[in-house]
Parts: sequence; C-alpha cells; structure tokens
Amino acid sequence: MSHKLEIKNLHVAIEDKEILKGIDLIVKTGETHALMGPNGNGKSTLLMAIMGHPKYEITKGDILFDGKSILESPVDERSRMGIFLALQNPQTIPGVSNLEFLKYIVNAHSETKQKLPKIFADIKEAAKELNFDVNMLKRSVNDGFSGGEKKKNEILQMKLLKPKFALIDEIDSGLDVDALEIVSQNLNSYNKAELGMIIVSHYDRFFNKVPPTHAHVIIDGKIVVSGDSKIVERINKEGYSWAKTKQNS
Ligand SMILES: Nc1ncnc2c1ncn2[C@@H]1O[C@H](COP(=O)(O)OP(=O)(O)O)[C@@H](O)[C@H]1O
Ligand SMILES: [Mg+2]
Repeated sequence: MSHKLEIKNLHVAIEDKEILKGIDLIVKTGETHALMGPNGNGKSTLLMAIMGHPKYEITKGDILFDGKSILESPVDERSRMGIFLALQNPQTIPGVSNLEFLKYIVNAHSETKQKLPKIFADIKEAAKELNFDVNMLKRSVNDGFSGGEKKKNEILQMKLLKPKFALIDEIDSGLDVDALEIVSQNLNSYNKAELGMIIVSHYDRFFNKVPPTHAHVIIDGKIVVSGDSKIVERINKEGYSWAKTKQNS
C-alpha cells in the first residue's frame, strides 16, 4: 500500500523566531527526496517539525499523513504511524542500556508484545548487517560512541522500526568511507516501494550511493529550487550561490 506525507505552507518558529517560511512538499512511499541547502537555513527544523518536536512551533500550515493532519499527534504517535527521524546530533542517554532502549522501542511499536529472544535476535541481526559491534549494545545509549557509531545506532533503530517515512539528517557526517558504504547499502536494502525518504546531506558522494528521485534546496526557510538529482550535481560543482539567486524569483 502506498502512503503520502504532505507538507502544506508550513511555517515554523523556534522561540518566537520564524525559521520556516512556507514549505510545500509531498513525499510518497517509493520516493527519495534529497534536501540540501546552506547550514542554518531550516533543513533540520523541517525534519524536527514533521516528527513533532515540541520546541518547533507550527504557526501556519499543515502536515498530513495519508490526507489526515498529524499536527495534534505527539511524537510517539507519529512514530507509530511510521515516521522515523535519524537525528543529525543523536542524544546520549546515560544509564539506559542501548539494548534495553532498542527492546523498548520495538515493543512500543508492536501491537502484540514480542518475545525477548526474538527481539534480541532481530537486534543482533540488524547490528550485524550494519557491522555494528554487539558490545555497543551493552553500553548506555550513544555514551562514548564515536560520531560514526552514533549514526549507525540511528540506522539500527530504523531497521528495527521499519518506518514508512524516514527523515535522515546528515547521516553521512562522521562516517568513514567504509561506514558510509555500509549505511548506504542498508538504506538501499529496503523495499523501495514501501519507504519514502527525505535525506539531508551536502554531498554527492552520498547521493551517488543512495540516488534521490527528487531534490530540493532550502534557503532562508523556503524551498527555492526543486527538481531531480541534477540539482545535487550542480551543488557539487558550483555550491549554493546559484540557488541563492532564485530566492526571490
Ligand atoms: N533548538 C533551537 N533553538 C534555537 N534556535 C534554533 C534551534 N534549532 C535551530 N535553531 C535556529 O534555526 C535556524 C535553522 O536551523 P537548522 O534547521 O538546524 O538549519 P540546518 O539544518 O539547515 O543547518 C538556525 O538559525 C538555528 O540557529
Ligand atoms: Mg541541520
């Protein structure tokens, strides 16, 4: 079954400062959208707002999942609907073992309580596919993890939750070339028809591995250019200056 995530004239403020100034975007399962743009222009803000972070205030517009507004749904409900966010800066949770955390999120997303041995087997299998050291499962969530390990831990959660829409925020920053290859392979291993993605990255070396069907550039809280992967190539060659010229056109 196909699904649709629709962002309509979205305005978002953080602490009374308007960051997003009217974003329109439709993502369907089967599509991969590259979201690019200079730092500080609202890429993470858009993903946080879709996920429902309470600090990001929707002042105008709407977010619809299969035609129904999700603005009143808290983060956990959106997560159970099938929206997943891989954070740009994953949080450390001292005192909570990674394994317990993963077990908890799997259970929170299942209608029937799953048996522990099955959950552990799934976690181990997913960790193996990511070449993620199983010893990291015993540590506190992200505590003392390297940048790359934190990023892999985000994708590990995604693999366990099997979202319909994955919002992936600069997953490639902090990954070495081998880890980048593994993470890309894991993203590509999904049945593409069943997953819609919005991927934030600055780099064509990542989008060459996970090819987008659509691409957009955000500048000052607005999408100023939309198109296909040619946009990624152009940014790689020329940077963002040409996109800035389209800001008010
Ligand atoms: N939690 C926050 N509190 C205050 N300001 C924030 C917060 N998050 C982002 N901002 C501001 O919002 C703007 C957009 O940030 P962000 O969406 O993170 O940009 P990008 O992901 O494109 O680099 C920036 O000016 C940033 O300083
Ligand atoms: Mg960001």
